[in-house]
Amino acid sequence: MDFRINEVEGVTQGDRRFLKHINHDKYVRITTSESENQPGCMLPRGFLEIAARIREMEVRENDVWILSYPKSGTTWTQEMTWCICNDLDFESAKSTILPIRFPFLELSTFLTGKRGIPTILRDSVSYVESMESPRFIKCHLPWELLPKQIKTVKPKIIYVARNPKDLCLSYYYQLVRQGLFQGRFEEMAELFLEDKIPYSPYWDHVLTYWKHRYDPNFLFLKYEDMKKDLPAAITEVTSFLQIECLDIEQLSDLCSHLSFEAMKSNVSVNYTFWEKPELISLLGDINGNFMRKGKVGSWREEMNSDIAKRFDTWIERHLLNTDFSFNC
Ligand code: A3P
Repeated sequence: MDFRINEVEGVTQGDRRFLKHINHDKYVRITTSESENQPGCMLPRGFLEIAARIREMEVRENDVWILSYPKSGTTWTQEMTWCICNDLDFESAKSTILPIRFPFLELSTFLTGKRGIPTILRDSVSYVESMESPRFIKCHLPWELLPKQIKTVKPKIIYVARNPKDLCLSYYYQLVRQGLFQGRFEEMAELFLEDKIPYSPYWDHVLTYWKHRYDPNFLFLKYEDMKKDLPAAITEVTSFLQIECLDIEQLSDLCSHLSFEAMKSNVSVNYTFWEKPELISLLGDINGNFMRKGKVGSWREEMNSDIAKRFDTWIERHLLNTDFSFNC
């Protein structure tokens, strides 16, 4: 297989700073020969058990893939897409939890060796492989680790990006809830800026997908645009998926279904469904408040000015000579 596996640089036996906080001492950087110049995506070593299966998996032309860096508004985009593709069947959307309708491809990476959990968690790749078409698939992997057939079969792909300041805060709370991080936000932010957080480097992820934004089977969305004008985002997705335009009433019903308040109390999408004691002991308390704030710019309420300035410099450096920006 064409994988390149590197240790997470800057972390030696004597300098295990990030391991002190991220309670999982088995991370590696992984990439393929396709992307020689990239450091590789930081993932639990357990990913190596399924990496080749994912690279070689069959992709179907009528698959719909939602890709993102974690905490970018993936769940929101998934629910929007699923409803659009399923005749706004809100009843089924509410009665069948999102991970069943729209599974997370590499989820089992984070649960290697755990027993007594459903297939969808224990062997997420098999679950996706066994789905009937059309399949809806969530995935956080960077471009170079996707199944090879993505490039030849060209299913519909929607990528959603979010500004890194809000994203980092959202990620912090998620990692803390899951028991994967035990420090202060400032410590997590530092690791994020050093690309030492699962799925990092953030900019390689976003900017590589950004290069594909004009591919005919590819739609690039931004969380900030969805917040600003949800009906416009829905219309964009509908047209991209070549689905008949929604009428005003349908559009309004879908916007209500997708509002932050509605999604926060919708047990099918708010992740309270993992609230079973036996799962909490295995996964950590991932329920907490998955739908936390759902805002653009909430970093202003929580991030100190030093960290915000470091983010600004980092953002500026990475966006130099690109035509990418966030409105926030
Ligand atoms: P916050 O933690 O900032 O509130 P993901 O699904 O990629 O994990 O992203 C989760 C983030 O999307 C959370 O951000 C969550 O609140 C936000 N989100 C989920 N549904 C939303 C909605 N309907 N409207 C706005 N934000 C939403």
